[in-house]
Amino acid sequence: MFERLEAVVPDPILGLMAAFRADPDPHKVDLGVGVYRDERGDTPVLASVRQAESALIARQSTKTYVAPAGNAGFNQAMAQLVLGAAHPALTADRVRSVQAPGGCGALRLGAELIRAAAPDTVVHVSTPTWANHTPLLAGSGLRLESYPYFDPPTGGVQFDAMTAALERLPAGAVVLLHAACHNPTGADLSQAQWRELLALVKRRRLLPFIDMAYQGLGDGLDADAFGPRLFCAELPEVLCAVSCSKNFGLYRERTGSLHLIGESPRAADAALSQLVRLARGIWSMPPDHGAAIVHGILSDESLRGRWLEEVAAMRRRIQGLRLEVVQQLRDYCPQRDFGFIGGQRGMFSFCGITAAQVRALRERHHVYMTDDSRMNIAGLRRENLEYFARAMAQVLVAAPK
Ligand SMILES: Cc1ncc(COP(=O)(O)O)c(C=O)c1O
Repeated sequence: MFERLEAVVPDPILGLMAAFRADPDPHKVDLGVGVYRDERGDTPVLASVRQAESALIARQSTKTYVAPAGNAGFNQAMAQLVLGAAHPALTADRVRSVQAPGGCGALRLGAELIRAAAPDTVVHVSTPTWANHTPLLAGSGLRLESYPYFDPPTGGVQFDAMTAALERLPAGAVVLLHAACHNPTGADLSQAQWRELLALVKRRRLLPFIDMAYQGLGDGLDADAFGPRLFCAELPEVLCAVSCSKNFGLYRERTGSLHLIGESPRAADAALSQLVRLARGIWSMPPDHGAAIVHGILSDESLRGRWLEEVAAMRRRIQGLRLEVVQQLRDYCPQRDFGFIGGQRGMFSFCGITAAQVRALRERHHVYMTDDSRMNIAGLRRENLEYFARAMAQVLVAAPK
């Protein structure tokens, strides 16, 4: 059977990681992989996570199964983190949450639910969107289409083109939205644009599926949740997939949650029973460790305070780097305006150089980013900002377009 299978072309990001590792140059800069890095270039275990983990190990007396929907305390704490403690959908008992293996698991589970409810549904994703959205969502059998989003000349959102495209969708179409820190572009919707989008989604009776993988790394935990909170308060149905990989630094622990807002408590209960059924058929039980850590942090005032400080430190570092890189690029590449990088949010920016220039950066200057010119801002360090800006200046002048 397997002799008939053809080898898959490896994911370019894996090739980039391997090339970076193999590069012996001491000045090499990794802006490829999408993980947070501190000023030393490390992705450390957060102190709040370490503390919660030690307490967990000390008190845990069994490794028996928890439940297909996961840790109930974690699910509730995550719903409150995403929506805010006194959110009207919570008060109205319209929110149901299940734990999932990472934001990816939550995205897939949400797609499976949509497919179970209405198999012909089309999911509309932004142009561009995170590359893994395609296999995660289309893998459930749903069809994917795209709507205009990123505006290369301004580094912002083509909001008019976006809304014009969404305005043409039939009722029941699903729109995948990034809550904040859009991956791969860093271009986010403003609060006014979220409000305008809400009116459109209501009028056209679309179903928003919100992907929230970076809460706290943009403008703050509350500010980054503006869109999801607004939509969940105002719409009859919303799906929201949440990842704890970045803001808790729990990448490999596969920790995430899916939140469903139903029209009524009864409809939400029925949907939850379907989510549990679907989860049983995919992973049966989600991994416990990361969720137990997150629950430990969010339910303990002092640990929560420590975690809030750690998220704020990550956010401040990214925001600071954005401003500093703009300044350095202004000094070294005055012929080109990179000011948009300062207005974008989260770890990523499309810096807008050509694939040939990306290659030249890699081959001549040991600076690694993906061919579409997405850079992970957190991969920069104060000590190599100038090196990076100088390398950019050289490829802008020398490399073919
Ligand atoms: C936009 C987006 N959504 C979801 C995820 C899910 O991440 P994970 O499954 O590691 O929690 C990521 C991770 O990079 C992401 O960038």
